[in-house]
Amino acid sequence: VAARVVDHVLGGWHTFPADRLFAEHAELACPGFIHDVRANRDFGRRVVRWMAAQGVRQFLDVGCGLPMNGATHETLAHLGVPGRVVYVDRDPVAVAFAQNLRPTPPGVTAICGDLRDPDSILNNDVRDQLDFDQPIAVLLLGVLAHMADSDHPDQILGRLRCALAPGSYLGLSHAVHQPLMRHEQRRLRLLYRVTPTPLHHRTEDKLLQLLSGWDLVAPGLVPIGRWRPDDRPMAAAGALASVAGAVASVPEARVIASARSATTDACRSGRRVLPINPSRSEAAASLGRDVSLVPSRPTPNRPPGRADRAC
Ligand SMILES: C[S@@+](CC[C@H](N)C(=O)[O-])C[C@H]1O[C@@H](n2cnc3c(N)ncnc32)[C@H](O)[C@@H]1O
Repeated sequence: VAARVVDHVLGGWHTFPADRLFAEHAELACPGFIHDVRANRDFGRRVVRWMAAQGVRQFLDVGCGLPMNGATHETLAHLGVPGRVVYVDRDPVAVAFAQNLRPTPPGVTAICGDLRDPDSILNNDVRDQLDFDQPIAVLLLGVLAHMADSDHPDQILGRLRCALAPGSYLGLSHAVHQPLMRHEQRRLRLLYRVTPTPLHHRTEDKLLQLLSGWDLVAPGLVPIGRWRPDDRPMAAAGALASVAGAVASVPEARVIASARSATTDACRSGRRVLPINPSRSEAAASLGRDVSLVPSRPTPNRPPGRADRAC
């Protein structure tokens, strides 16, 4: 539902009457809903443009919806930037749409995956398309708000961060509690409750907590309309505070090979266990070992790669 509702609001036509009705009800329940959906797509466009300007050429767009009307590959094409894009969604309709884009955009693939199980996304199909030893931009635009706290969004973000090379980025947007609209937002949540992807508003403090372990890029977590606005009318008008967005980077950090097993659990829980470029003594302390047992450099004959990555 969520993907096709967004498609309808953005002017797409791959929708059922129920999706169009849902969009109308959502706007009635929570005025500003339609604006927020459009502003979110506009935020995504600015984020992709900014990431491309940083030299990122690989994009993993999770919860992509129906990728049109300013979707990631379209923004890259508009910029004339060659890149690889992997679209992921749990909605098979969205994935089928993304797999059948015409004309077929080069470097674009789409797979079915569920963000609640990030390992189902970080699988071989995706690794065949993206080089995880090079920076990747992970886009979670409007999707984390469909995860309940019981889905452990902190661990999801931690797992993704651990899989990424330094220099990678996360682009995030998320529906946030707006005290002045609490009744309207409650009505919106009630509407989504009967769909396969219920909606969860979170506070900005909670989002900042979820982003701990990432380095926030200026201006930090802000209403999406205020994130590096350009001169397009949508961005300028997007001062509503009911969706917040941020870009964050994977800290430059590596651990020595022998610390790998000690970090595995922490990776899964999103905890960071070693400082950036740990010294031998720091690594030894972290491992509870004598410093003489800690090699001074990664094991020879194996290039440093994702296995050595700190998180
Ligand atoms: C609000 S739409 C956002 C679409 C697009 N990212 C955008 O910004 O316009 C949320 C999307 O997340 C997808 N989604 C929800 N839960 C998901 C999950 N657990 N795993 C993957 N995708 C999910 C929905 O199917 C939908 O396409």
